[in-house]
Amino acid sequence: MQSSTAPSTTAQSTTAQSAAPSATARTDRPLSLLVLGGTRFLGRAFVEAALAEGHRVTLFNRGLTAPGLFPEAETVLGDRTADLSALDGRHWDAVVDVAGYEPEVVRRSVTALGGRVGRYVFVSTLSVFADHSTVQDEDGELLDLDADPPPHQLYGARKAACERIVLDACGDRASIVRPGLIVGPHDPTDRFPYWPRRFRRGGRVLLPGDPADAAQFIDARDVAAWMLDCIGTGRGGVYNVTGRTLPFGEFFDACRALVNPDAEPVRIGTAALLAAGVEPWMGVPMWIGDPACVAINRIDVSRALAAGLTLRPLAETLADTLAWDTARGGPAPGAEGLTEAEEQRLLRELA
Ligand SMILES: NC(=O)c1ccc[n+]([C@@H]2O[C@H](COP(=O)([O-])OP(=O)(O)OC[C@H]3O[C@@H](n4cnc5c(N)ncnc54)[C@H](OP(=O)(O)O)[C@@H]3O)[C@@H](O)[C@H]2O)c1
Repeated sequence: MQSSTAPSTTAQSTTAQSAAPSATARTDRPLSLLVLGGTRFLGRAFVEAALAEGHRVTLFNRGLTAPGLFPEAETVLGDRTADLSALDGRHWDAVVDVAGYEPEVVRRSVTALGGRVGRYVFVSTLSVFADHSTVQDEDGELLDLDADPPPHQLYGARKAACERIVLDACGDRASIVRPGLIVGPHDPTDRFPYWPRRFRRGGRVLLPGDPADAAQFIDARDVAAWMLDCIGTGRGGVYNVTGRTLPFGEFFDACRALVNPDAEPVRIGTAALLAAGVEPWMGVPMWIGDPACVAINRIDVSRALAAGLTLRPLAETLADTLAWDTARGGPAPGAEGLTEAEEQRLLRELA
């Protein structure tokens, strides 16, 4: 493990070594922040926001994903699954654990760092809920890893176990952030980016399900701003952090209006798609399909909204995502949410 030659100043180092301050006082001074990860998508958005606000950021990662992305931050190299000792003896106002998936890996970070940070922010997921057939608020029943969940629920069950580890160790110094589908520039999946790109291509566009079906997602930059605000205001607790539910049809209307009003939507209902063997969620990107998940896009976010969660306009997210997707030349072949050939086959067979 090694420390990069990041241009951290003496002042930065001094502050990062000082005792962890209170987790509850609101402060406008620059914060010292440790980000476990920080270079792919949500973590990247968080680091961008933190640096833009003048905070001092230390990244801890293996240096494999986008090395050198943030020369103005300090980078400490290491593998969190094996050894965090490169961070020994240091203190931060907060650690932001963006990409913890395994309970034992998160336990290692909490044990090593929990006593040396003012706040432990853990990024969880709305997939922690045991039931998506009814609307869930923060108090909904969670998946239980000890109950041997099926493979499709393992991710959520592991995240729920991680939440418990962080809460047990850090108490009110813990902020648990449960995002829904995260969208916006640098999205490593081709779920949301598929749609503005698809509308730009024009022609007959396969739209799945019913226009009244629910959609729900949040821009990574809005999640990042929320996390920063939790740290700055000392806000602990568990929050569902996603956008307001909107009709899926409204989402498609916005794509069409913004990108290409000449595109020709062709609606294929859920029953027909399922009967044709199309896989819910990625068979047609963002299409829920599964009847057991009818409420997955109706998550109650009133607690976060009441506490100040801010959501940018959909048009902004769409425009920025399309600009980023265009600049990168679209997804790599094989990484598309739905290929043109597959879509045209479905249209021929089902429309
Ligand atoms: N996408 C969604 O729709 C969605 C929805 C709900 C919740 N979430 C949650 O949101 C988070 C998204 O994470 P992200 O990928 O955007 O985070 P990120 O912090 O932007 O990227 C992941 C980081 O982890 C580092 N990393 C990976 N393995 C590591 C290791 N063994 N040791 C040290 N560092 C390591 C990577 O760098 P190196 O490779 O260089 O090590 C990279 O910097 C996840 O917790 C996910 O569960 C996502």
